[in-house]
Formats: sequence, C-alpha cells, structure tokens
Amino acid sequence: MSIERMAVIGAGTMGNGIAQVCALAGLEVTLIDVAPAALDRGRSTIEKNLQRQMTKGVISEVERATALSRISTTTDSSTTSKSDLVIEAATEDVNLKLRLLRQIGEQLKPGALMASNTSSISITQLAAATPCSDRFMGVHFFNPVPMMALVELIRGVQTTDSTAAAMTDFVRRIGKTPIAVRNAPAFVVNRLLCPMINEAFCALGDGVASAEEIDEGMKLGCGHPIGPLALADLIGLDTLLAIMEVLHADFGDSKYRPAWALRELVAAGRLGRKTQRGVYEYQA
Ligand SMILES: NC(=O)c1ccc[n+]([C@@H]2O[C@H](COP(=O)([O-])OP(=O)(O)OC[C@H]3O[C@@H](n4cnc5c(N)ncnc54)[C@H](O)[C@@H]3O)[C@@H](O)[C@H]2O)c1
Repeated sequence: MSIERMAVIGAGTMGNGIAQVCALAGLEVTLIDVAPAALDRGRSTIEKNLQRQMTKGVISEVERATALSRISTTTDSSTTSKSDLVIEAATEDVNLKLRLLRQIGEQLKPGALMASNTSSISITQLAAATPCSDRFMGVHFFNPVPMMALVELIRGVQTTDSTAAAMTDFVRRIGKTPIAVRNAPAFVVNRLLCPMINEAFCALGDGVASAEEIDEGMKLGCGHPIGPLALADLIGLDTLLAIMEVLHADFGDSKYRPAWALRELVAAGRLGRKTQRGVYEYQA
C-alpha cells in the first residue's frame, strides 16, 4: 500500500515534529492527542518551526503554507481507521501504549501499517498487543525531529520483511536515514546515550560540579554539541526516567539504576523544556 494519509498519536515533543516532517514530505497528517491543549501547543510549535525554516531559506512560503494545510488535529482517535500508517508517539508508559495500540490496531484498515516511536519499550511486546503484529514496527525518531537525520527501525519478532521494506521506503521518503536495529531494551542510541546522561545526574547529585560545569565539560572536553543535562531538559526528564527504568528492569543490572537527582526533579514536576523548568529554567 502506498502511504499518503497518516496519523500521529501524541502531539508532544516528538509527535509535532514527526507531523511537521511528514507534512513537508507531502503526506496528509492527522495529529491526535487526548489533551486539546497539547494539540494547540503542537500546532503552534509546528507554525513557529516552519516560519523559522522559511526565514532561513530552507523552505519556500508555498512549502510552508502547503505543509500547514496538510496537518489537521483532533482528539478523536477513531480517525486512524482512514490512515495508511499510524505512528504512536504518546507518553513513554508501557501500559498506556499497550492499551492504546490494541485499540488503534482493532480499527486499522486492511494492509495499513503501524509503528511506535517508543524510546525503549520492547517492540515485540507492543506488537503482540495489536491484531496486526506482522505490520508493526519500531520507528524511532530523534529530537528535535526536523533537525535530526536518524531513524532507528526496530523489527519485532512478528514484523514481516514487507513491513520492514515499506517502513524503510517511508523513512527515506521523508528525508531521514534509517538504521536497522534488533529489538532490545532502548535499542542502540539510547542504550549508549541515556546511561551517560543518567551519570551526569549522579555527578550533579554527588556535588562533583555544577550543572553548568558538567555541561561545559562535555561540550569542551568531548566535543558534544550540547551538554548532557541541557539535553535531558530537551528530551524531557520524565521520558529519560522512563527509559532508565526500562533499561534497569529489562537488563536487571544495577548499572542502569536511575539517578536520585533525576527522580527528585521528576517528582517535583520539573520535566525540562516542556514545563519551562528542569535542570535549568526557560522562558515560555
Ligand atoms: N523526548 C524525546 O527526546 C524522545 C525522543 C525519541 C522518542 N521519544 C518517545 O516518543 C514518545 C513521546 O515522547 P514525547 O517526548 O513526545 O512526550 P511528551 O510528554 O512531550 O508528549 C506525549 C503526548 O502524548 C499524549 N498522550 C498521552 N496519552 C495519550 C493517548 N492515550 N492518546 C493520545 N495522546 C496521548 C500527551 O497528552 C502528550 O501530549 C515516547 O514514547 C518517547 O519515549 C521521545
């Protein structure tokens, strides 16, 4: 089936970026969220990002306006029955995802594909919740989606070759570079990246250095474009904690234990840029 009409579930940090990139590549996108406020925020982020791309000369005024006109928003998840592809980008919570994917899978049209943008949860487990597990795959984008080239494509045990081939074509069509990854906790990039960021929270909690110095250290000493604590604020501290909890539980290895300083900030509702406060403070 050729993919022309798609749905993105979850309009947060990742969902709005995925919708933007896909609309620019010519797809009709329905952006779905349970929270109307998240849809408003998602749409306004897309508008701002497209405006910035136009000002920089990356896209034309016509491309900006056409991409925006291709994106509709709704709280009604039954609209996914019209989609050729559904990408789930809701909160990193296994029970929430299992419930949501079962419901979306039951109304999926014959031949349509389904994917999760999960950062860490088993694709085989998520696929098993759906009645279309052969047409299900992990499609893991990176943040910020419009800027990051990579997409990890993760096959579950049930994923067929034709599903993997169609998803690879889709990822290339939207201008991203796929890598094929076997299903394993947090896949490849987050398995390496998130323990490093978690260790930065351990160092912060131990008082080894200030947040600014830890970030400066990794930028100037290791050539990272952004420090680990600033990156954590960009990712979302709740999402980072959820990823560390999956790594810790699935590998059963204490080296993945989430840092206490990270837990404390999440418990306080300081989730990073999306709440204007995490390790650092941000303007709305
Ligand atoms: N933040 C990152 O850097 C990053 C990178 C790659 C992948 N991911 C993954 O992408 C997914 C989304 O992460 P995020 O950072 O965008 O989270 P987020 O907290 O910014 O947004 C999640 C959105 O999902 C919505 N939602 C919750 N339950 C829903 C439901 N039942 N139906 C529809 N919408 C629902 C919430 O209202 C919220 O708007 C997670 O699986 C996460 O692990 C995140």
